[in-house]
Amino acid sequence: MFAIISDIHSNLEALTVVLADIERRGIKTIYCLGDIIGYGPDPKDCLDLVIEKTQACVIGNHDYAILYEPTNFNPDAERASFWTRTQIEVEQNSAKRHSRWNYLGSQQMRWTLQMKLDGTEAVLDFVHASPRRPINEYVFPEDVYTTPAKITALFDRVKHICFIGHTHLPGVFLDDPDFYAPDELDYVYPIVSEERAIINVGSVGQPRDKDNRASYVYIEKNNVHFVRLEYDFKTTQKKIYAIEELDNFEADRLSEGR
Ligand SMILES: [Fe+2]
Repeated sequence: MFAIISDIHSNLEALTVVLADIERRGIKTIYCLGDIIGYGPDPKDCLDLVIEKTQACVIGNHDYAILYEPTNFNPDAERASFWTRTQIEVEQNSAKRHSRWNYLGSQQMRWTLQMKLDGTEAVLDFVHASPRRPINEYVFPEDVYTTPAKITALFDRVKHICFIGHTHLPGVFLDDPDFYAPDELDYVYPIVSEERAIINVGSVGQPRDKDNRASYVYIEKNNVHFVRLEYDFKTTQKKIYAIEELDNFEADRLSEGR
């Protein structure tokens, strides 16, 4: 069994609840799809927890923004990004500071695992955004209707299963092309050898599918289970409201999951 988390966005309350749920299930292996930081109020604590608890991570556009520069960010996201960078830079404990920078700077854009899942030979790719542009390309559910050729082009780069985050919208893309939200699948997608899929694990710290509960997935045998968990988002909101550089909208959206 292993779990995949993504898009934590400096939301410590959500991350803590997700990690506790993963531990309760006896899952020892956690992979992360990036955007550990950005938007939220607790970048350092979230980074430390991801460093401690996860076995591998790929870089997201918000992690990239801290290390290098924000790319295609709106003014609020950019301001949050510069604030986040400052938090990591002004850390007095130099060992912690180096460990966080080194961790961010050592992330790959993509990596692949080959494993047997309950007898099914599976090839699993892990990226933040899309199999074509691992850091920055958005893959939206409506793309299957509005730009089906885009989804087909993405599947040209998928050998079998590709796990993504980035849009904060959980669900499964098939190469028809088609998209299934988790509730349309009864929250379980079985990985089989004859079917390719792009699977969005949703967002731990800033869900945007009108459900404000934290999202992650775990894989048991060949099944991908989509999980939603309530967390104390009001505490996260209070922290965001108290930090001038973080826009109030980043707090407001946590109530509704948008
Ligand atoms: Fe994100």
